[in-house]
Amino acid sequence: MDFRFTEEQLMIQDVARRIAQERIAPIAAEFDQRGEFPAETIKLLGENGLMGIEVPHDYGGAGLDSVAYALAMIEIAAADCAHSTIMSVNNTLYCNGLLKYGSEAQKHKYVTPIASGEAIGAFALTEPQSGSDASAMRIRAVRSADGSYYTVNGKKSWITSGPVAKYIMLFAMTDPAKGAKGITAFMVDTEREGFHRGKTEPKLGIRASATCEIEFTDYRIPAEDVIGNEGDGFKISMGVLDAGRIGIAAQAVGLSRAAYEASLTYSRDRKAFGASIGSFQMIQAKIADMKCRLDAAWLLTLRAAWAKQQAQATGGRVSTEASVAKLYASESAMFIPHQAVQIHGGMGYSKEMPLERYFRDAKITEIYEGTSEIQRMVIARNETGLR
Ligand code: CAA
Repeated sequence: MDFRFTEEQLMIQDVARRIAQERIAPIAAEFDQRGEFPAETIKLLGENGLMGIEVPHDYGGAGLDSVAYALAMIEIAAADCAHSTIMSVNNTLYCNGLLKYGSEAQKHKYVTPIASGEAIGAFALTEPQSGSDASAMRIRAVRSADGSYYTVNGKKSWITSGPVAKYIMLFAMTDPAKGAKGITAFMVDTEREGFHRGKTEPKLGIRASATCEIEFTDYRIPAEDVIGNEGDGFKISMGVLDAGRIGIAAQAVGLSRAAYEASLTYSRDRKAFGASIGSFQMIQAKIADMKCRLDAAWLLTLRAAWAKQQAQATGGRVSTEASVAKLYASESAMFIPHQAVQIHGGMGYSKEMPLERYFRDAKITEIYEGTSEIQRMVIARNETGLR
């Protein structure tokens, strides 16, 4: 087994680290407090190839691999989870989804501006009454008599980057009688008539990542904007989420690393009872447990990213590797910042330090792109072959 990274992987990791530490970390608290979308730094990520890392140069991307993407995500998340959320949806759910399932014309039209950072992409699966049970969606897309367009009516909720997205990958029911096999994927241009945005959701964490409900009223989609075939939508969404979950695992690792490194520094510097608190066994135990979880989450995430890269050639699925990585890394991201806040005591609870933000931001990694309960279900189903 070779644990060395390629020159290209190290190069993008370095670019991401520099932007993260020099440009994102200094503004993260401010944007979090205001709940403001960080347009300028997101644009900077785009200019440096970080909004379409795995997208080939022909479609405006950086042309790198899945490991490079995971390494870059870790760096951005270590500075700010909200930035990495925007980056992850853009890179994986949107760009990778279209690259894998879209036509050549769709790739040119809809991937290029998003991968190059000119505009933002989003992914619309969840509805007010269907989250984990994704195929229970109600939004309808009805094909016109001549088959040239579809008319969409209904709502989607919790749309990451919904308030700012130019294009959205939408999943809608074209044949309700067929259940999951009656779902179709479409491309949506948010500037077309019939598309509306609801209010931006106030959230516990990742407050700088904008999230909203979207609504369609007699919104027309030309037939050439169907992704894949009618009825393929559910499988497309699941395939896209397999990749997306690796990005969320990487985000959880980055966030955990930041909390862990802050704890190392604090446990060396902070004195109590005449000694650095890091010399006390109860703090040492926390540091050791945090380090084990961090390293295990990192390894599982990179294993999943590597497996995804291999699967591109074979066409295989990486559902188990992705769910194992996301489950373990997100639960570690609850554990590590929790311990970090405890090590920092009152300072961990204060907005003067980023620990309380890491603590709040971590929770979403156990919820979006499939809750921890869903990841356990996917893993156990795949392992046992039972349903
Ligand atoms: N890849 C390809 N196909 C897949 C697949 C995958 N990973 N997983 C399932 N399928 C296929 C199955 O093979 C099956 O096909 P056949 O009928 O031909 O055999 C079909 O899809 C239906 O599969 P299931 O019967 O297993 O479907 P289910 O209804 O039991 O649901 C589930 C499975 C795992 C619970 C799924 O619904 C799920 O993952 N739910 C969670 C949804 C989710 O993650 N939502 C996140 C929203 S997006 C988000 O959070 C974005 C953001 O803003 C950050």
